[in-house]
Amino acid sequence: MNDKIRVLLSEEEVAKRIKEMGEVISSDYEGRPLHLICILKGGVFFTCELAKRISLPLTLDFMSVSSYGAGTVSSGIVKIVKDLDEPIEGKDVLIVEDIIDSGNTLSYLIEVLKQRNPRSIELCTLLDKPERRVKKQVTVKYTCFTVPDQFIVGYGLDYDQKYRNLPYIGVIEQQ
Ligand code: PRP
Ligand code: MN
Ligand code: MG
Repeated sequence: MNDKIRVLLSEEEVAKRIKEMGEVISSDYEGRPLHLICILKGGVFFTCELAKRISLPLTLDFMSVSSYGAGTVSSGIVKIVKDLDEPIEGKDVLIVEDIIDSGNTLSYLIEVLKQRNPRSIELCTLLDKPERRVKKQVTVKYTCFTVPDQFIVGYGLDYDQKYRNLPYIGVIEQQ
C-alpha cells in the first residue's frame, strides 16, 4: 500500500518554529529548572528537538497512555500504560505532545498529574487541531502550529504506526 503524502509543514519550517518556541520557553522559565514530560510515542521527536532549544537546567521523563475503546473515535477513558519514573512534586512541569485532537488524553493527564503537586504544570504541543476538540477546558500554553482537520503524519505522528520518522509534517491524500 502506497499512501500519497503531501507536505504540510516542511522540515525547515518546523525547525524554525521549534527554535522560536524553545526561546520563548527559556525566557518564560528564566532562572528555574524545567521538567519535561514526553508523552509516548508521538511526542518523542518533538520533545528531542525542543529540549535541545531550551537553555535551562532541564530534566526529562516519559509517560505512555492509551485510550480505551475500539475504533477511531476516542472513548475519553485513558489508561496509564507507563507511569513517570520520578516524582513531580514541587517541579515546574511542561508536558510535551505531538498533537492535541479531542483533548481527551491531555485533560485526563493534567488532572492526574496535578494531584501530585507540581509547582506548575503547562502544556506544549507541536500541533493543535482545535476543530476536533471535545474537552474545551484543555488550555494549551504553547502551540507551534494550528492544523486543519486532516489526517496528519510525520514528526512523531503515525498512521497505523507508520510515518512517525518523516522529518516533515505531511497530510495523507485521499486516493
Ligand atoms: C495521539 C497523539 C496524542 C493523542 C491526541 O496519540 O499522539 O497523544 O493521540 O489525541 P486526543 O487529543 O484526541 O486525546 P495516540 O493515542 O495515537 O498514541 P501514539 O502517540 O503512540 O501514536
Ligand atoms: Mn500520543
Ligand atoms: Mg497514534
